Amino acid sequence: MNIDVFTLFPGWLDWFRQQRHVANALALGHSLDGVDLRATTPLKGGQVDDTPYGGGAGMVIRVDVVEAALEARWDADAVEGRGDRRVVALAPAGRQFDDALAAELAAEDELAILCGRYEGFDERVHTHLATDVVSIGPYVLAGGELAAMVVCDAVLRKLPGALGHEDSVQEESFSPALEGGPEYPHYTRPAQWRGAGVPEVLTSGDHARVRDWRLQRSRERASGGD
Ligand code: ADE
Repeated sequence: MNIDVFTLFPGWLDWFRQQRHVANALALGHSLDGVDLRATTPLKGGQVDDTPYGGGAGMVIRVDVVEAALEARWDADAVEGRGDRRVVALAPAGRQFDDALAAELAAEDELAILCGRYEGFDERVHTHLATDVVSIGPYVLAGGELAAMVVCDAVLRKLPGALGHEDSVQEESFSPALEGGPEYPHYTRPAQWRGAGVPEVLTSGDHARVRDWRLQRSRERASGGD
C-alpha cells in the first residue's frame, strides 16, 4: 500500500520509517512518504494558515493550501481524487481510531493522511477533501504528526510480513479471534518470581485448555474483570 502523510513537518517521519516493522513493510514494497504542505502553497512567502473568521485565538490551515498539495501529489482534482482513495484528516474531534478502522485502512491500496497544526484545518478540508476525520483519543496534541504515526503503526503492522510473525496479528487485542476483546495475560520465564508463579494451565502442554483459558481471560478483561 502507498501512504502519503501531508504535513508541515515531513521530517518527523524519518525516525518512524526506520522502526523495524515499518522498515519491513517498506522493504516489501509498501511506501510511506511525507508530503510537505508548504512546498506547494499557492500563497506568498510559504504561507499555509490564516486567522479564523469570527475571531479567536490561533491560526487555521487553509483549504486551498491542502487542495494544492493534494492536486500536486495526485495530478488530479482534489475533491474528485478522494473517490480513488481514503483521505484521513486527523483532528481531536474526529471518529475515534480503533483496531477495526486500522484493519479497514490496511485493506486499502492508497491512503492519504492529513496532519493539522495550530487550531487545525478549515472545516472544508473535513467536508470536501477528506473521506474520514479521525482522532486517536480525547486529548489535544500540538499537531497531527504523532497521530499519523499512531495510525500508520497500527495499519502497517497488519500488512502481511511486516511483523515477521503472523500469529501475533491474528490473536491480539481487539482481533476477531478474541471476539474484539483485549488480549489475555502473557507469562514467560522465570516460572517463580518473588513468590508470584505462572498459571498451571500454561505449563500443562494441553493446547485446547490453554486456548480456552486465554479466551476466558480475554472475556474477563472485556467485562472489566481485570
Ligand atoms: N490533532 C491534535 N490532536 C489530535 C488527536 N487527539 N487525534 C488526532 N489528531 C489530532
